[in-house]
Amino acid sequence: MKVLVTGGAGYIGSTVSNYFIDRGHEVTIIDNLSTGSIKNLPKKAIFYKNDISNIKAMNKIFIKKKFDIVFHFAALINNEESIKFPKKYYVNNYKKAKVFFDCCIDNNINKFIFSSTAGVYGNRNKKVNENDKLQPMSPYPKSKLKLEKYLIKKKDKVRCVILRYFNVAGSDKKLRCGFNIRKGYNLILNLCAATLKNKTFIINGNDYKTPDGTTIRDYIHVEDLAQIHLLIANLILKKRVFKIFNCGYGNGFSVKEILQKFILISKNKINFKIGKRRNSDIVISIANSQKLVREIKWKPKYNNLNYLLKSSLNWYKKNINLK
Ligand SMILES: NC(=O)c1ccc[n+]([C@@H]2O[C@H](COP(=O)([O-])OP(=O)(O)OC[C@H]3O[C@@H](n4cnc5c(N)ncnc54)[C@H](O)[C@@H]3O)[C@@H](O)[C@H]2O)c1
Repeated sequence: MKVLVTGGAGYIGSTVSNYFIDRGHEVTIIDNLSTGSIKNLPKKAIFYKNDISNIKAMNKIFIKKKFDIVFHFAALINNEESIKFPKKYYVNNYKKAKVFFDCCIDNNINKFIFSSTAGVYGNRNKKVNENDKLQPMSPYPKSKLKLEKYLIKKKDKVRCVILRYFNVAGSDKKLRCGFNIRKGYNLILNLCAATLKNKTFIINGNDYKTPDGTTIRDYIHVEDLAQIHLLIANLILKKRVFKIFNCGYGNGFSVKEILQKFILISKNKINFKIGKRRNSDIVISIANSQKLVREIKWKPKYNNLNYLLKSSLNWYKKNINLK
């Protein structure tokens, strides 16, 4: 199939692009490189350095090339930053994306997979399923929910699957691409920095209502996410569908559990201290992913915390000395 990938110079977009190219599909990437890296781009992908809202450039591409499906990854994803600069997130993740989707639809491209986030659920004390109430707590997930709603309104015109990713980790098996070790800001990245650069790891709050007081997340390996994209793309190409799926394993790990596991796998000491809670941090975020298992027969391959942490660490090690 011919796939148009927005945000394909970023962590997940580049990994999914490689996964598709490895299986003989043609991938074209649009990215403005605001947070992505040119080093992530698969060699065989066609690349245009464009903002998704640059309609003139997009129309030119659509005249030249035909696409079977679009994967929309392009977004700003830093929750803390979104609290400081809410408008930036509203404009980039919602307004610009809306312009982009309208342009696709005007060019008769109407098959989409949209990367949304588990953040749309807000705080829950249980595994969430796709029909649960949506209560995003900060501008980043709010911008994603706004785009979900826009796509739902287009239901009659498009075939679309909205994927709500939980916490994505790990890297491409061949270490060709991965998370941005300089611009990233998540727990696993911070642990890699703590173990390899001797930085102090901060636990953001240890007084939450969880068994060990730290927040709990569901981590999914990025290659399992890539496989989900292939299963979903095949479904969309075959059938008229509009669906929403959670993407997670249904297991929650606390920050302290991840820290302990990380010390074991890295065989290194990690200096850590307890810091303040972060603004709008979700306490427990775990997927009920039964719908994905039931409806697309998803069988995760990498549901293994050791593997997930090792593959993140390997990517970090490979890139630590790159300028
Ligand atoms: N990483 C996670 O754990 C996670 C969890 C839930 C959802 N998601 C979603 O997955 C998607 C990909 O996330 P990621 O971790 O790969 O992030 P990333 O920052 O690595 O990649 C995003 C890419 O989009 C590009 N981009 C941003 N705005 C753009 C624009 N206006 N025009 C063109 N390109 C633009 C950036 O340059 C970057 O290459 C995002 O939509 C994010 O909301 C990620």
